[in-house]
Amino acid sequence: MNIKTVAVIGAGIMGRGIAHVSALAGFDTVLNDISDDLLQDAMTRIRRDLQKGVEQGKITNASMHSALERLALDTSLEHSGAGADLVIEAVPERIDLKLDVFARLDRACPPHAILASNTSALSITEISSATKRPQRFIGMHQRDRWSP
Ligand SMILES: NC(=O)c1ccc[n+]([C@@H]2O[C@H](COP(=O)([O-])OP(=O)(O)OC[C@H]3O[C@@H](n4cnc5c(N)ncnc54)[C@H](O)[C@@H]3O)[C@@H](O)[C@H]2O)c1
Repeated sequence: MNIKTVAVIGAGIMGRGIAHVSALAGFDTVLNDISDDLLQDAMTRIRRDLQKGVEQGKITNASMHSALERLALDTSLEHSGAGADLVIEAVPERIDLKLDVFARLDRACPPHAILASNTSALSITEISSATKRPQRFIGMHQRDRWSP
């Protein structure tokens, strides 16, 4: 499937790193969190890390600017999910929170969208039960990730 837009939910340690890599790889990327302040803080850190990459010769100045242009910030979970082909969740490691986030994403995202959880240790099967698309649900870290 053709993935053009990636939504990253949660702009903490993992989320901002994933958004950074996603934008640098050429995907339109929406970074979502619960407040503008958190998103602005994440953006400052992403900018700083990209700049460091330029200074170390790992990326060009042009690719840093292109990545920044591909990054958007959004505090609405539903709006972030509505335009996404792939959603990567990186909210805190709490099952109640992840179930709520994925139930809302499942309603908001287009049917073709793939949902992915960044959970370290929670059950992917349990988290995916909040959605009606367990066949389009993956775990980023776990060995029990879904396979056809
Ligand atoms: N930090 C690591 O090294 C690491 C490694 C592997 C996996 N993980 C997993 O990744 C996930 C995120 O971890 P982290 O360390 O980035 O957490 P973090 O606490 O740094 O960031 C979580 C972010 O999610 C935001 N958030 C909370 N509720 C939200 C909601 N309803 N909608 C949108 N955003 C919301 C918080 O405001 C915060 O900015 C966890 O499941 C964790 O177990 C973390």
